[in-house]
Amino acid sequence: MADRPYTLLSCGMSIDGYLDSADTARLRLSNDADFDRVDAERARCDAILVGAATVRNDDPRLLVRSAARREERVARGLPPSPVKVTLTRRGDLPATAAFFTTGTCDKIVYCPTPAAGELTERLGGSATVVATGPGADVSVAAIAEDLSARGVDRLMVEGGGTVLTQFLTADLVDELHLVVAPLFVGDSRAPRLVGNGCFPWTAERRAPLAGVRQIGDVVLLRYALSDRFLAENPAGEG
Ligand SMILES: NC(=O)c1ccc[n+]([C@@H]2O[C@H](COP(=O)([O-])OP(=O)(O)OC[C@H]3O[C@@H](n4cnc5c(N)ncnc54)[C@H](OP(=O)(O)O)[C@@H]3O)[C@@H](O)[C@H]2O)c1
Repeated sequence: MADRPYTLLSCGMSIDGYLDSADTARLRLSNDADFDRVDAERARCDAILVGAATVRNDDPRLLVRSAARREERVARGLPPSPVKVTLTRRGDLPATAAFFTTGTCDKIVYCPTPAAGELTERLGGSATVVATGPGADVSVAAIAEDLSARGVDRLMVEGGGTVLTQFLTADLVDELHLVVAPLFVGDSRAPRLVGNGCFPWTAERRAPLAGVRQIGDVVLLRYALSDRFLAENPAGEG
């Protein structure tokens, strides 16, 4: 297989396995201390990827928030925040989304060729639109390879569930950070952590648990999903 970035999948869910509520307002699952931990993880990455629905629904900035961490990146010759990456089938992404309007970092959108021209025009140079060919689906494995060729060594995938499902079922994840928030959503219309799929981690092949940490009222579970985990984390647990 061609090179791909070390891939960290990071997300939070309710006790009953939901990523959000079914309402339009974004559900705050985590707490300030955990948001700061996620910020530190972002600062260690070369790129952050989310699905187009997350860009549309949550309008995230996806920037490193801490000034000290941004300065530390710049001192290492890096941009203040990692490259932002998303993928879309329909190309229905507003140029006004914070994904495009915030940060000096590069922004990359992977999009099937039939929708790429119109999207490129709409975004007006605020992002690089990569046309992926005639097929309706963009392959997440192809994205990983392309990002690697663009110099991305460490990729953080932050959701939503559709994207998490594809990275996990394609066995492209080296490390999973799963935060469990102390609340129930209890509404099957809400997005779940993952959808249907054939996952590499089953009753016969259980995912190795690499660490458990309480952060205020949430719990962080770390799973080592590939052999590369130990090379990246020589102490084993973090
Ligand atoms: N709790 C957390 O940590 C967390 C983190 C992130 C997001 N979220 C939540 O997750 C929810 C969104 O999740 P979601 O599963 O509905 O959406 P998502 O994964 O954010 O995005 C799905 C969209 O991405 C595009 N896409 C996905 N796979 C593709 C492929 N193979 N090829 C081309 N395009 C592809 C499509 O965009 P188009 O529709 O444009 O074609 C698809 O509709 C939101 O409610 C958000 O709040 C939670």
